[in-house]
Amino acid sequence: MIKIDYTNVMAKVIGEKDGIIPQEFDEYNHIVHEIHEKILKEKDTHFYFTKLPYQDTQDIKTLAKEIRENFDYFVVIGIGGSALGNQMIQEAINGFNYNNFEFPKLYILDNVDPEKFGNILDLIDIRKTIFNVITKSGSTVETMANFAIIYTTLKELLPDTYKNHLIFTTDPEKGFLRKFGQLEGIKTLDIPPAVGGRFSVLTSVGLLSAAVCGIDIDALLEGAKKADKICSKTSIVIENPAYLIGLIHYIAAEKKGKSISVMMPYFERLSSFVDWYRQLWAESLGKQGYGQTPVKAIGTIDQHSQIQLFREGPKDKIVTFIQVEKSLRDFKIPSDLPPEISYLSGYTLKEILDMELLGTRAALTKSKVPNLTITIDELNPYNLGMLIYIYELATGFTGYLYKINPFDQPAVEEGKNFAYGLMGRKGYEEKLREFKELNRQEFILEL
Ligand code: PA5
Repeated sequence: MIKIDYTNVMAKVIGEKDGIIPQEFDEYNHIVHEIHEKILKEKDTHFYFTKLPYQDTQDIKTLAKEIRENFDYFVVIGIGGSALGNQMIQEAINGFNYNNFEFPKLYILDNVDPEKFGNILDLIDIRKTIFNVITKSGSTVETMANFAIIYTTLKELLPDTYKNHLIFTTDPEKGFLRKFGQLEGIKTLDIPPAVGGRFSVLTSVGLLSAAVCGIDIDALLEGAKKADKICSKTSIVIENPAYLIGLIHYIAAEKKGKSISVMMPYFERLSSFVDWYRQLWAESLGKQGYGQTPVKAIGTIDQHSQIQLFREGPKDKIVTFIQVEKSLRDFKIPSDLPPEISYLSGYTLKEILDMELLGTRAALTKSKVPNLTITIDELNPYNLGMLIYIYELATGFTGYLYKINPFDQPAVEEGKNFAYGLMGRKGYEEKLREFKELNRQEFILEL
C-alpha cells in the first residue's frame, strides 16, 4: 500500500500564496490529458521504461543463481544511472548490513577517487569476484578508467579464466564496451536502447545485482506493474499518483516560487532512494532555466540540521516526507527512567520516529511550507517497485509539463569534453584551448 497525503500543499491549509487551490489543478486538465495521450503513444520510445515491468526475468535469475554459486563478491563498475539504482534497491530491501548476509557481498565502484577504489579492492578477493561493468553509452570515462585497471589486474592474475570474472551491461549495439565484449567473448547483457541511464534501474542494470543479493525481482516488477496499470488508466490528476506528484511540484515551482524539492524519508533504508531520486529529478528537469533543485534530508537527523532553514529560511521549498509504517525491528524504551526523561517511557524507537515526523510536519505546515507525505505500509520489493515507477513517470510527465526533453542531459557533456581535452583525447584539442581560456586563476587566497 502506498498513500499520498497532499493536504498540506493545498491553499485551504497553508494559504493561497504558498498553497494550491483546486482550480489550479483544474486549469491543467487539458494539458495533462494531452500529455497522458502522448505518454501512452510513446511507450515504445521515450517512455519505454513503463514497459519494463512486463519483461521476462528468467535469464537474469539464472545468471544470478550461477553467480551466487561461484562468487563471493559482486562488484558493479558504473556511475550515475548505472550505479545509483543498484545501491538504492540493495539498501532499501536488505538494509545497511546488506553485506552481512550469505549472498555475495556487493560493492559499487562509482567514482575515480583512488582511495575509495583502493578501499574496495582491500575488501574483496579478486579471485572470488565477478565485476559487472555497467554503462549504457559504453564509454563513460570513470567507468572505463576503473574497468581498465580491473581488466588488466584480472588478466595478470587469472590469465586463463579472467573472462569468467566479467559481465558487461550495455547498449545492445552501440558503444566501445559492446564491441570489446564481442571481440573478447565476454558475457554481455542488454540495456534496452530506448531506456536512458537514470530510468534503467528496472532493466538488467539494477535487476542483476538485486537478484544476486537475494531480492525478489519479480515482486519488484509486480509493484511497478501495478503502478503502470493505475497510471496508464487515467489522466485525472487526483487519481494518478505520478501526475499528482508531478503537477504539485510543477505548480509549486512555477506559480509559488518553490524552486527546491526536499525529499525527507523518516526511514533510513530509503536514504539511497533519495540519492536516486535526486539524479532523476535534477538531470531530467534541470534544463532551459527550468527545474527544481532536489535536496536530501533524513528524519530525524536533519531536524537537527536543515529544518531551521526549511522553516524560517527562504520560502522556496516543497517537502516530501516518506513514512514506512512497519519496521522490521523495534526497541522499547525502559519504564524506569529518571524524571527528566520519563516522558519517553514505554514508547518504542519507531513510535518516537513517527511522532517526530508528525511534529516536524505540523511545524512546517504552521510555517506554510507546502509538504506532502507518502506513506508505505512496508518497505518490500513490491512497494519499492511501485515507488520507483511512480517517480520515473512523475519525472517524465513533469518534463513534458515544462515542455523540455526529460530524457537527455546536454549540459553534462561540456564538463566531460573539457576533461577529455585535458586527458589529451584525440578530437578534443579545441576543447583544451577553450578550457585554458576559461580556467583563469586570478583571485586566490592561499594559506
Ligand atoms: O542518466 C544518465 O543518462 C546519466 O546519468 C548516466 O547514467 C551516466 O552518465 C552514466 O552513463 P553510462 O551508463 O553511459 O555510463
